[in-house]
Amino acid sequence: MIHFARQALAQELVAALRGQGVFGDAHNGLFLAAPRRTGKSTFLQADLKPALEAAGVVVVYVDLWSDTRRDPGALIAEAVARALLPKLGLIARAAKASHLDSVTVAGALKIDVSKIGKIDGVTLPEALRALHETAKAPVALIVDEAQHALTSEAGEATMAALKSARDQLNLPGDVNLMLVMSGSDRDKLLRLVNTNGAPFYGSQISRMPALGADFIHHVATLITAQRPSLAPVDTQALKQAFEAFGHRPQFFMNALGQALSPLSDTPELRFEQAVLRAAQQRQRDDEAQMEAEYLALKPLEQAVLWRLLEQGARFRPYDAEALGFYKQRVPGRVTPQMAQKALEQLRERSPALVWKSARGEYAVDDAAMHRWFEQRVRDGEWPPVDPQAALDIDDQDGIEAR
Ligand SMILES: Nc1ncnc2c1ncn2[C@@H]1O[C@H](COP(=O)(O)OP(=O)(O)OP(=O)(O)O)[C@@H](O)[C@H]1O
Ligand SMILES: [Mg+2]
Repeated sequence: MIHFARQALAQELVAALRGQGVFGDAHNGLFLAAPRRTGKSTFLQADLKPALEAAGVVVVYVDLWSDTRRDPGALIAEAVARALLPKLGLIARAAKASHLDSVTVAGALKIDVSKIGKIDGVTLPEALRALHETAKAPVALIVDEAQHALTSEAGEATMAALKSARDQLNLPGDVNLMLVMSGSDRDKLLRLVNTNGAPFYGSQISRMPALGADFIHHVATLITAQRPSLAPVDTQALKQAFEAFGHRPQFFMNALGQALSPLSDTPELRFEQAVLRAAQQRQRDDEAQMEAEYLALKPLEQAVLWRLLEQGARFRPYDAEALGFYKQRVPGRVTPQMAQKALEQLRERSPALVWKSARGEYAVDDAAMHRWFEQRVRDGEWPPVDPQAALDIDDQDGIEAR
């Protein structure tokens, strides 16, 4: 397995987080979105974390998908506690031994001993402050799949607590708490920043750049180093294949491994062409899968999903316009209750097609569906038509003609 280091991007983000750019707002929190499997977690852990540490920052990383049964708020608190405990260990043990109920850290800060290791939303800002003061360094909290926090009330409270911690710890020109939130879906991350009541109102979501030409160049160099007979590598074809794989290194590397293997299915093709062919096949398979899922829905579920795909963050499931939209596409009566039931069905499917936040905001579960939808609209191929149903209509035409 290879890892392509992305140091330049990491350095840029470190500078932005420390508030060193004249413009930019990363010191208020950096919100990064990129599609699934494009290398977010790898970048955050293998590139950004070490770069921050090299700049003297204490880094806490937590992935809210690491255990989806656990409450996101608890996962964040635990990660902070894990970083804090070694720093407080001695002090806390001494305090417990002498039955003190609180200890004073770094000269001024009081920590309730009974709560160490069980930091809740209220004490999270204190814990972060304690970490900052005992480490005598800025702290960066990296929350991967941060949108997941919005699916529970405790998770929402945690986000509000983090915002409060940021406001307490950061002063102009003096950034002591850096927050990095990442997610695979811009629409869902938007809920953290886009309304007056959202915890990070005013911040922007940035797109985490996908791996690109330099990654392909790196791969080509590795190939020619191992198999000089394959030079020169057609990097253009590999680049095109990587794009067709949606910039997902895992699928690309698998196809590359296949194509370079002595057991390749397509020995007649040069490996670049074989990878490109695999990428195009994968794209067709993904699209066929989405089409099949869409066609398997009931008419009202299709209409609701269609509306959600079309409206994105502006989606309101039961307003008059939405109901009018459903009525145009579904025979018979459509009430808000029926639309609600359809939405619930879309959420309860496995895999879920729709995501809902604790505040009742909706998004499609897999952002790739938006790209599929938009492409089909551009090609004039929306909505998908069930080939079986189309056949039935043809048959009827045939009967009438006779
Ligand atoms: N810089 C890189 N160099 C090589 N391979 C990479 C790189 N980044 C990611 N990958 C590979 O791509 C795959 C997905 O990476 P990762 O888990 O970081 O993506 P993600 O966007 O966090 O995915 P998910 O949406 O599932 O959380 C992994 O197999 C990983 O090894
Ligand atoms: Mg990830």
